[in-house]
Amino acid sequence: MSPIRPNPGLLDIEPYQGGKALTASGRAATKLSSNESALGPSPHAVAAFQDVAARLRRYPDGSAKALREAIADHYGLNAEHVICGNGSDEIIQLLCQAYLSPGDEMLYSEHGFSLYAIAARAAGATPVAAPEKNRVTDVDALLTSVSPATRIVFIANPNNPTGTYLPLSELQRLRTELRSDILLVLDAAYAEFVRRNDYAAGIELVAGHDNVVMTRTFSKIYALAGLRLGWAYCPRAVVDVLNRIRGPFNINAAAQAAGIAALQDRAFTEAAIDHNEKWLAWLDTELRQLGLRTEPSVGNFLLISFPETAAKSAQAADGFLQQQGLILRRMESYGFTNALRLTVGTEAENKAVIAALRLFMQDGNDAAK
Ligand SMILES: Cc1ncc(COP(=O)(O)O)c(C=O)c1O
Repeated sequence: MSPIRPNPGLLDIEPYQGGKALTASGRAATKLSSNESALGPSPHAVAAFQDVAARLRRYPDGSAKALREAIADHYGLNAEHVICGNGSDEIIQLLCQAYLSPGDEMLYSEHGFSLYAIAARAAGATPVAAPEKNRVTDVDALLTSVSPATRIVFIANPNNPTGTYLPLSELQRLRTELRSDILLVLDAAYAEFVRRNDYAAGIELVAGHDNVVMTRTFSKIYALAGLRLGWAYCPRAVVDVLNRIRGPFNINAAAQAAGIAALQDRAFTEAAIDHNEKWLAWLDTELRQLGLRTEPSVGNFLLISFPETAAKSAQAADGFLQQQGLILRRMESYGFTNALRLTVGTEAENKAVIAALRLFMQDGNDAAK
């Protein structure tokens, strides 16, 4: 009798590593490892979630019509071109399932979001990473990495974990120079946090092309990560394909209700954006004053590089911070062996991280202490 076997290549996939919520000793801690908005979700979104408890018997609307219309209304889109996912993770996976086959290549940026490679491999395709320039996505390097087998290019803009971004003009250049049979996916998970005149999430690129998709999420600015809700703005033909292969009820009723309420609470969203703008700049300045390298992030997180000495390495810093009940994100799975990623937190959390890192950077302090 032959054993059951998974599809070729699946056992070569390194499972996605999420941000930890417990310290090494198993203690609950201040979690600054997954880039959820510091202010948490809108109280209206929480109330909408709770209201759904009375209706759990029923299936949700499989087309998520009211939610798609609320998204379209909020962002100025055509609801027919919006599709929702169980997190934008699901949409990334569906796109790979739909447009990649064994032998195809998925192109992404060297330190791009790690799920792209996992989703490509799950579809039997090969991920190809293009080098970055100064930890910023490099359009020229992407273009030289295109091969006849390339079918999808994923760009996280701003990128996670660097927080750096490409201006709209560079995205336009990339689209113009890519072959038309290559799908360009713009992952704008952190778009709401960005305050730059030359930045655009990609709405106009999707509107003007039949081979561009923009993905978004409710996990970050709206802090509904636990509900799993993402969406994409797509050409009609792409929506049509994804609707055929997604789960028929992929967005649960609570996520639909909370998502609508979160969008409607514009004042809360503005407060979350303002909070981030203030504390991102503060953290960046403080970290640099401690002698630590950061990248110029426009998201709600900072990539922090540590000195190349064992006592002051990212690993040592992680151990020290965990002893203080603070969890940042280890970055080995993104190819940064000596860096941690810090999510902007509340005022108290931000101050606690800087105080702990100040102690850590003093002579004689390391994780072994
Ligand atoms: C760039 C990027 N894209 C997508 C996601 C996935 O978000 P979601 O919670 O919507 O699946 C993340 C989450 O970390 C991210 O950083």
